[in-house]
Amino acid sequence: MTIMGDRLVALLFCPVAEEGGRTMRTDVRSEVERLLEEMTLEEKIAQLGSVSVVDLLEEGKFSPEKARRLIPNGIGQMTRIAGWTGLPPKQVAELANEVQRFLREETRLGIPAIVHEECLSGFMAKGATAYPQAIGLASTWEPELIRRMTSAVRKEMRAVGAHQGLSPVLDVLRDPRWGRVEETLGEDHYLVARMGVAYIEGLQGDDLREGVIATAKHFAAHGFPEGGRNCAPVHVGEREFREVFLFPFEAAVREAKVKSVMNAYHDLDGVPCAASGKLLTEILRGEWGFDGIVVSDYGAIDMLRTTHRTAADKKEAAVQALEAGIDVELPEINCYGEPLLQAVREGLISEALIDEAARRVLKAKMALGLFDDPFVDPEEAPSTFDPPEHRSLALEIARKSIVLLKNEGILPLRKDIGSIAVVGPNAASARSLLGDYTFTAHLSLDEASVPMASVLDGIKLKVSEKTVVRYAKGCEVFGGTKEGFTEAVEAAENSDVAIVVVGGRSGLSKADTCGESRDRADLGLPGYQQELVEAICRTGKPVVVVLINGRPLSVGWIAENVGAIVEAWLPGEEGGNAVADVLFGDYNPGGKLPISVPRTVGQIPINYNRKPASHRDYVFTEGTPLFPFGHGLSYTSFEYSDLEITPKEIGPASKVTVSFKVKNVGDREGDEVVQLYVRDVVASVTRPVKELKGFERLTLKPGEERKVAFKLSTDQLAFYDGDVELVVEPGTFEVMVGSSSEDIRLKGSFEVVGRRRKVVSPRKIFTEVKIT
Ligand code: BGC
Repeated sequence: MTIMGDRLVALLFCPVAEEGGRTMRTDVRSEVERLLEEMTLEEKIAQLGSVSVVDLLEEGKFSPEKARRLIPNGIGQMTRIAGWTGLPPKQVAELANEVQRFLREETRLGIPAIVHEECLSGFMAKGATAYPQAIGLASTWEPELIRRMTSAVRKEMRAVGAHQGLSPVLDVLRDPRWGRVEETLGEDHYLVARMGVAYIEGLQGDDLREGVIATAKHFAAHGFPEGGRNCAPVHVGEREFREVFLFPFEAAVREAKVKSVMNAYHDLDGVPCAASGKLLTEILRGEWGFDGIVVSDYGAIDMLRTTHRTAADKKEAAVQALEAGIDVELPEINCYGEPLLQAVREGLISEALIDEAARRVLKAKMALGLFDDPFVDPEEAPSTFDPPEHRSLALEIARKSIVLLKNEGILPLRKDIGSIAVVGPNAASARSLLGDYTFTAHLSLDEASVPMASVLDGIKLKVSEKTVVRYAKGCEVFGGTKEGFTEAVEAAENSDVAIVVVGGRSGLSKADTCGESRDRADLGLPGYQQELVEAICRTGKPVVVVLINGRPLSVGWIAENVGAIVEAWLPGEEGGNAVADVLFGDYNPGGKLPISVPRTVGQIPINYNRKPASHRDYVFTEGTPLFPFGHGLSYTSFEYSDLEITPKEIGPASKVTVSFKVKNVGDREGDEVVQLYVRDVVASVTRPVKELKGFERLTLKPGEERKVAFKLSTDQLAFYDGDVELVVEPGTFEVMVGSSSEDIRLKGSFEVVGRRRKVVSPRKIFTEVKIT
């Protein structure tokens, strides 16, 4: 270590204590304060920025000269060493070490950097495990699975020196035209919150020194953009904003102790989220007690100048963002560089605000253990990427994410079937199984960076030796011609069954139909795919449609005319095998829709938890969705019975237990997601016709019966009243238990009696569930 490094050690020296077998620093706060006192204004501001690793490279190698020029005062974060270089794990780890070594040895105070990366559906790095896309994760309705996934992601990230992941997306989705629908956990705030909290807990782990900081984004209400267009303004009343859109973020802060939050790009009633002190400071820190770092979405601070026009120049943009509460500018130093320095020097913003943001950054670095040891072992890194256990977890999640939308007895298929036509643009494409934030899709590459089987490959591996599999692409996802139809129809005509694999392609490029900035004005199958399905159906052969896509598709004709529909979303590296498992009954599907599927784009928004007055039909279209929220079939069936609600009357600060039995009455093992919905019958403001308040995914053997008991707190019945106060009002609450938001099997009610109660924090956020 050099003099600089020694200086840092001297500065940070303080007693340590043993706790639970782990060495803990006793006084992080005073360490940070000592360091802050030493720092010049330039050094503090440097902690509020990030540098792209690519800018530090010369002919693909780390360049100390460039580093001396670009980050002489140190740096807060490093942007995507793996995600932007595409290097294999060993080299990523080596590069991360070189940057940290430079910072440690060649900057005055030797402060290491936080390396951030993307990890929405796995670490976005070449060769890392590619799990199902978020909308598929939500379809599992199994938070524990997501926790296991992000615990695995954490290990891959930490192995190459990454410390912060820019996930999860906690945007409640209200407009599936929005290309980022696939990145969300669906339309219901309770489901989003449950899955999101599990995601964060898994990623951050029990001890941040081995964990990865999660970033809850995009704060807030990004999933309801005007016209479904990315980054467009969001129009929502304050009560719904808090109750629906803020709820998952509040849960992330209070329940999961998320350590970072990212602002959203859009504006709310004229105020860009990046400049909203109400959002980023008053609510986030003041009301909820968030103690982590707020990072800007990429380029969001400068967008105050270039897009929103609330700032005339970069200096103003920097002042607005810092005052609102953004601590760190990503992905590169721009407004938080020279412009911010000038703003302080000119007295436009107080240095105390810089100190406050720098303090948070330093605290995060300490919590991550970076001051103790910022280095990783490059030799260890390769074996942590996509090991067999991560791959089998990817398979388990993919299987569990698949939703059987319709089945008239065609599925499961026999493995010794004589012949199968496998048709459609997504049938032989492994690439199409990946979500927009996987390495391959994000960088618009054609080849997956991990070994993958397409649906066609999966089917071929599954069927008996004598089964003839005939493949024909038919057409492209969009564009192209119908020339391939003849071959596809012939394949179907000569086969016992046709499996048509259609949908979209995810990513950020013009070749993609879904993903960030790939918004659509309609929700039909793109290109000639609908015509292809119709042509195959005209052969009179049994048809199974497999949808590989990131957004709900309005496939009314298919729902009416095809015998079976499998919604596979973007199932990741093991998706091809998972789909085959479901088609041939090696896995009995149990996923449920985390989002309503509209009959037509004109119905949007069509969330199940609508208000009572939102129920009418259209002249030519029913008002109901094509497939409702929570829907998903199985190869077995389940019976619900013995609903008990105890007690029948409760006070406004109390709990009620809703219990019932569920039994597998078919002849195969299967999964059922039991769902609890509640309706507040009469209230001082309009309340949704039903709201999800609890759920549990159960695996039941044939004939097996379980008792499920949900314990619901009155805190969870609270809503924001006319004065935007969180209250529980006395009255009747209807209870609905079922297999989807529409397939309600049991009904009852209970009464809240006594006074109207104002709910104060901390409030109970999630329902407890007991299975016996
Ligand atoms: C997205 C963020 C993402 C960032 C960096 C932005 O365009 O809105 O969700 O983290 O890019 O990839």
